[in-house]
Amino acid sequence: MFKILSIFLLFSPILAYDAIIFSNHISIRGISIENLLKDATADEPIVIITNQNFTLGQFSMKANAYSSEPIIDFLANSVKNSKFHESRNLVDQIEAPNSQKIDNFQPGSSILIISGESWDEMVEKFTNFEKIDNRAIMILTSSEAISTGKNRLKRSSAPLGAFPFPLIIPPYGNPKVNITRKINETCLFYLGGVTVVVENKLSNQKTLFASAMVPGANLTYSHALEDVKCEKGAFGNFIFRFRLKLAKEISGKIDNSKSSEKFVLSNGDFIDFSLKFHGDFWGYWRLIGATMHSIGVEGREGWKTLKSVDQTIGPNDTKFSKLASISGFSLTCHQSQALFFPTNDPKFRIGISLINSQIQTFTDPKIWDKMGPRFSLQTEDCTGTFSPGSLMGILTSLVMTGGVIFAFWMLQSIKTPDRFDDPKKTKQIVINEKN
Ligand SMILES: *[C@@H]1O[C@H](CO)[C@@H](O)[C@H](O)[C@H]1NC(C)=O
Ligand SMILES: *[C@@H]1O[C@H](CO)[C@@H](O)[C@H](O)[C@H]1NC(C)=O
Ligand SMILES: *[C@@H]1O[C@H](CO)[C@@H](O)[C@H](O)[C@H]1NC(C)=O
Ligand SMILES: *[C@@H]1O[C@H](CO)[C@@H](O)[C@H](O)[C@H]1NC(C)=O
Ligand SMILES: *[C@@H]1O[C@H](CO)[C@@H](O)[C@H](O)[C@H]1NC(C)=O
Repeated sequence: MFKILSIFLLFSPILAYDAIIFSNHISIRGISIENLLKDATADEPIVIITNQNFTLGQFSMKANAYSSEPIIDFLANSVKNSKFHESRNLVDQIEAPNSQKIDNFQPGSSILIISGESWDEMVEKFTNFEKIDNRAIMILTSSEAISTGKNRLKRSSAPLGAFPFPLIIPPYGNPKVNITRKINETCLFYLGGVTVVVENKLSNQKTLFASAMVPGANLTYSHALEDVKCEKGAFGNFIFRFRLKLAKEISGKIDNSKSSEKFVLSNGDFIDFSLKFHGDFWGYWRLIGATMHSIGVEGREGWKTLKSVDQTIGPNDTKFSKLASISGFSLTCHQSQALFFPTNDPKFRIGISLINSQIQTFTDPKIWDKMGPRFSLQTEDCTGTFSPGSLMGILTSLVMTGGVIFAFWMLQSIKTPDRFDDPKKTKQIVINEKN
């Protein structure tokens, strides 16, 4: 019963659809549903089980999660007895255009859908279907969470390609992504690699960090058209999503020396996150939020195996990132401060730091019209102590101080005539031109 209960701890009511993933074959830790579907084969198929009104609440009733009664529901039992199971919150619909309905099953399909109107109808179909391989990964969710192309709610496209680094998004000029430049939209992001950091809060107030540098040479990325959302000007939000896939096993250590490994990222693992920048009225822009869509690390030497899925952090957690500059400038950063995301274990967080990045929210569109997409020649470095950003701050404060001094001096100079304003004195202000 505790196992069933524990999957509810991840429940978050903010997001749109509930889902439970379970499998007897492979661990699904940190792998997004999108990526599971992408990698589905006839040998290791995905089986999506849906009913109209599926929620974690509905499941918990069928699973007797809040009582000590034994579970009699076949599906709830299958979830409980599976080797790997976890709950997820889905923000977007799952795109499964190539899926097969179980009612007209054909061997060789990699994505199967078992759907019933009600829970009972769904379970009946699931129970009667014998062709489910033990290597299948099951996704239990609401019918509305699945888009097969006909009931699509949001217009979104599947991520394309496995492009070599360096990453440049939007991927202008990449013939495999048919991207057309939108007028006045001039955001651009260059990335050379990432460092994955695991933070381990020990009980004695000490915190240990282990890190793994993942150079671009060991990564590929894919891109969907809606992965970049930018404003046609300097003001507003600028969002970039990074869908990275490892091409090599990488281990994380406490320092770069020969010390033993504390965690491992495997070949084929995904690192999928978004960064959100905001440009304000005063011409500054800065990182104000980030979402970890999915990442997982395998622990070594007593360090936990961790995952962080659909975790969003806000301005309080990103304000020390130094990913900030002023309008018209691009920012280059050799190694950014890490952004830390909560994991399934409160003692651990997983952090991402950007290696060799260049970020631009908005620049003069006229230059792009003439010369095509490019970074602004005005560039700030994130390590600079006397950067244009701070210089602008200093200039502003000088102007303000000047203003205050001037105003004070003005007040001083009008002191003398003030006494003539005293109404108790009969003497009126006399403007004597001859005086
Ligand atoms: C699903 O929920 C809707 C609205 O709450 C209800 O009208 C419908 O009957 C439910 N469907 C089933 C199969 O329970
Ligand atoms: C790219 O997209 C544009 C408009 O969205 C379309 O007109 C054009 O035919 C597309 N090109 C290719 C090669 O798909
Ligand atoms: C692009 O920017 C220019 C200058 O700010 C503005 O006049 C024009 O209306 C903008 N065009 C679009 C389509 O936003
Ligand atoms: C991983 O990166 C290193 C260093 O950049 C490179 O030499 C190596 O070829 C890469 N390995 C793979 C499998 O991509
Ligand atoms: C951010 O920090 C401020 C001040 O420390 C606090 O008042 C606020 O509630 C925090 N916001 C969030 C979303 O945690």
